Amino acid sequence: MLRGLYTRCRRRVRGARWAFYAALVDRPWDRRCGVETQDPLGVAELAIPADRCDSASEYMASPTLVFRHVVRRLELAPCEWTLVELGSGKGRVVLMAAQMGFRSVIGVELSPRLHEVAQRNLLAFPLAARSREAVKLLCMDAAHSPPPEDTVYYLYNPFDAAVLSTVLDNVERAALEGRVRVRFAYVNPEFASVVDGYEFLRQVEAGTKCGERYTLWATTP
Ligand SMILES: C[S@@+](CC[C@H](N)C(=O)[O-])C[C@H]1O[C@@H](n2cnc3c(N)ncnc32)[C@H](O)[C@@H]1O
Repeated sequence: MLRGLYTRCRRRVRGARWAFYAALVDRPWDRRCGVETQDPLGVAELAIPADRCDSASEYMASPTLVFRHVVRRLELAPCEWTLVELGSGKGRVVLMAAQMGFRSVIGVELSPRLHEVAQRNLLAFPLAARSREAVKLLCMDAAHSPPPEDTVYYLYNPFDAAVLSTVLDNVERAALEGRVRVRFAYVNPEFASVVDGYEFLRQVEAGTKCGERYTLWATTP
């Protein structure tokens, strides 16, 4: 009972912090960029397949300060890496990553409704032509998305442990064949223990930014 109370309190505090940064930083970011990525949507509003409703998280956008911090902590040259966002929602992280100069940026989103919003946002967002061409928005299940090349995966707690394992099985196969280097960035990492169970990845950092916990992994050399 005490554990349940603690979890509820922690969720409330996290929600209040998220709303604080939304009002102060993230909604103004949306306005400045001419996009709408901020408003949350519950799972029932996402129009995703019925058999995926239990595994999917609701839509909540990553706080912009958290994504910037995570990229800084990864200590890599964006121009040498592809960023794949699993559960890319309305596309905020995809747009930011394109602006930061990642070699290519792929957003994978299950909800056709969010995918449509992301496409509109991409058209409205101020980006150089070359950066815009580097962006691909895919409306599909992350469990079926193939690992491309040297890739930073970014996840804001999009789905449950079962989908996460399927994703990691695919990534592991490519990594063990020596085809890809991988960085795995997981914000609000509810199922971090699942990632820890994969030997091809080693945890390199766990921290907190704006009240959001994150964990980073990298392929072992
Ligand atoms: C918490 S939101 C994160 C949004 C975005 N990543 C961000 O940080 O701004 C989680 C997203 O994952 C998506 N999602 C859930 N299950 C998925 C799956 N199996 N494949 C792809 N996307 C999924 C949801 O539709 C939702 O948009």
